[in-house]
Amino acid sequence: MSRVAVVTGSNKGIGFAIVKGLCKRFDGVVYLTSRDDDRGRKAVAELNKLGLHPEYHQLDVTDRNSVLKFRDHLKEKHGGLDILVNNAAIMDAEYITSYENSKQVIDINFRSVLTMQEVIYPLVRNNGRILNISSDCGHLSNLKNMYWIKKLSKKDLKIEELNEFVDWFLDSKKNGTLNPEDFVENGVWAAYRVSKMSLSAVTMIQQKELETRNISVNSIHPGFVRTDMTVGKGFFTIDQAAETPLYLVLDAPQSLKGAYVWFDGKVLDWYDYNADYYFKMENMGN
Ligand SMILES: NC(=O)c1ccc[n+]([C@@H]2O[C@H](COP(=O)([O-])OP(=O)(O)OC[C@H]3O[C@@H](n4cnc5c(N)ncnc54)[C@H](OP(=O)(O)O)[C@@H]3O)[C@@H](O)[C@H]2O)c1
Repeated sequence: MSRVAVVTGSNKGIGFAIVKGLCKRFDGVVYLTSRDDDRGRKAVAELNKLGLHPEYHQLDVTDRNSVLKFRDHLKEKHGGLDILVNNAAIMDAEYITSYENSKQVIDINFRSVLTMQEVIYPLVRNNGRILNISSDCGHLSNLKNMYWIKKLSKKDLKIEELNEFVDWFLDSKKNGTLNPEDFVENGVWAAYRVSKMSLSAVTMIQQKELETRNISVNSIHPGFVRTDMTVGKGFFTIDQAAETPLYLVLDAPQSLKGAYVWFDGKVLDWYDYNADYYFKMENMGN
């Protein structure tokens, strides 16, 4: 049976470049997935022009029915999968955004990965690899609130506690009680930071859960990359940004597990809340 790799939100940006790299290097079937069929099929056509031939399937990570349909498809056609890259995400619409938009950011960037965990992870075959595309906004040093720093630093952190963290944040947005000093950079892009910190933290929880099947689960900050998300700003092209994710799902030792990895491949201490790894607004000037 063929090996199978899947990348969520891969019709453009870094996810698209990861699919491109997988098509070149992975010995198996590669799935380009997107929430919008037209955008997804256009992306496939672009790769076809390069002589690359991913499979396509619709997948909106926030739509449970869409995830269930994709699960059934994978099960029937391939019996499972070997590589999963949770890449789909959005940014806050404004520097300081509304409750509605904050909820959307958390739903797409974090809660959807809990749905993937529930529905898709059981299909990941033993010795498989899962990569959560996080961010520098996903390092614990983005947070200044000591109560939550302590809670998120617990080695036996539970998903329920992470859900409490995002609920605390969303409630504060709803009630207008958010204290900007609970985050770096005066709370700019706080929803994105909360979603990505939660994603990095849940990576460690997922790793524990999948340990017995020798599946690796890591998260990565892919660098500051020129995509639609950054309105074209950044230090790297999408192909450069795909290199370390490709290394992690194809080449890294299987013993690398539950790590928070920087774009240059260095494994960082995610728990070092005094570190200087958070995203700085001054980068947007570049
Ligand atoms: N670019 C950077 O500097 C940077 C830095 C740190 C981390 N990251 C992370 O890298 C990953 C890729 O970002 P990017 O810069 O390549 O962004 P991008 O170009 O905006 O691409 C994001 C992708 O996610 C998809 N998506 C959004 N919501 C979705 C949903 N509900 N279901 C399925 N797909 C959905 C988008 O689809 P549509 O086309 O339909 O919107 C698009 O394909 C993200 O996780 C991002 O947080 C990026």
